[in-house]
Amino acid sequence: MKDFTYYAPTEVAFGKSSEEEVARLVKKYDGHKVLVHYGGGSAVRSGLLDKICSLLEEGGLRTVLLGGVVPNPRLSKVHEGIALCRKEGVDFILSVGGGSVIDSAKAIACGVCYEGEVWDFYIGKADAQAYLPMGCVLTIPAAGSEMSDSSVITNEDGDLKIGYSNNLSRQKFAIMNPERTYTLPPYQTAAGVTDIMMHTMERYFSHDDDMSLTDAVAEAVLRTMKDCIFTVLKDPRDYRARAQIMWGGSLAHNDLTGCGTTGDWATHQLEHELSALFDATHGAGLAAVWPSWARYVYRENVGRFVRFAVNVMGVTNDYTDPEGTALKGIEAMERFYHSIGMPVNIPELIGRDITDAEIDEMVRKCSLDGTRAQGQFKVLTARDMQCIYRNAARR
Ligand code: NZQ
Ligand code: ZN
Repeated sequence: MKDFTYYAPTEVAFGKSSEEEVARLVKKYDGHKVLVHYGGGSAVRSGLLDKICSLLEEGGLRTVLLGGVVPNPRLSKVHEGIALCRKEGVDFILSVGGGSVIDSAKAIACGVCYEGEVWDFYIGKADAQAYLPMGCVLTIPAAGSEMSDSSVITNEDGDLKIGYSNNLSRQKFAIMNPERTYTLPPYQTAAGVTDIMMHTMERYFSHDDDMSLTDAVAEAVLRTMKDCIFTVLKDPRDYRARAQIMWGGSLAHNDLTGCGTTGDWATHQLEHELSALFDATHGAGLAAVWPSWARYVYRENVGRFVRFAVNVMGVTNDYTDPEGTALKGIEAMERFYHSIGMPVNIPELIGRDITDAEIDEMVRKCSLDGTRAQGQFKVLTARDMQCIYRNAARR
């Protein structure tokens, strides 16, 4: 087991009455004038936004609203938020939404405290030294941004989607009411679970030894997500299953399943290029590349893939044929993706074939013009990335 530091400072208020805590929590973390940040309208339609604003105002807090965050959140909205916070003297940002809204809030929160261009942080030109304090009311379990240290922003100028990690961007609190996820469309529910599982798998596919406790936690998260997704696709108002998924989303990305492991993250990096180029839903994009990544790398550690096949996918272990067992696990994962409406290749994701020029562009960006490798399970060169994208381009 590798040495590690575990840091998960976010206060979690979980359950049916958790929203009632919002004003108390904002005040606890020294908020007075609150930017309430939200997305394209789901929180308006459900009445959640109105409820949150009323609770804040009843609690004596002043509010400023900024909606319109889109999935794969844009830098232009971040600039708008920074200008608004400065003009209004905002001292706290509350996100009402999912990963896109929370990520946009994180970028605004450090942008307000910085005299230069906020994109500097995402391209590695500077490191943020201060953030406005933030909290969130989560409406979709998926990205795990409510407890993670990172945010991912798309710069429309060049279709660049880049993540930035900083412990200062952790939310002071996360309010999670599983009932608020009843309105999620099946596609978003399934893409969310795919992302949750992938956050676990990125940490699970590792060469580190002696991490049986972390492995067991990871496998429990994976099996629970796999079971609960079918329940909620059948009955979107099943509280028990919605609650497991919501908590699973946080455990998958607050690093609990990564204690003592190295982590791979190549699938995520390969996917970010798909989101950037095609505005794809992040979770669906992960499903479209993971099978090709897995078949390309499994020989690096067949035993790890056998363990995944048996403990997570329920494949019977054929001790005479470890490679066969490993491959059956990958095939079982593909069947699972299809059964929840996710793609298993790029044409299924984007609805058409991808061109060679588009693959070349993704490789160029993912490898920073051939200067950056990706992944740890197998360190991927630009040529490896090209092979994986080409395999994922086949129907
Ligand atoms: O915009 P609205 O109208 O709210 O609709 C959203 C959006 O269309 C909808 N939605 C959310 N809650 C809903 C709802 N619809 C009905 N009922 C509800 N309760 O769902 C759609 C997707 O929302 P989004 O916030 O984009 O989803 P998600 O949480 O999956 O976030 C995706 C973004 O997070 C990034 C992804 O790359 C992507 O940009 N990630 C962030 C990470 C992080 N910060 O740690 C890690 C992840 O790996 C990921 O990269
Ligand atoms: Zn993800």
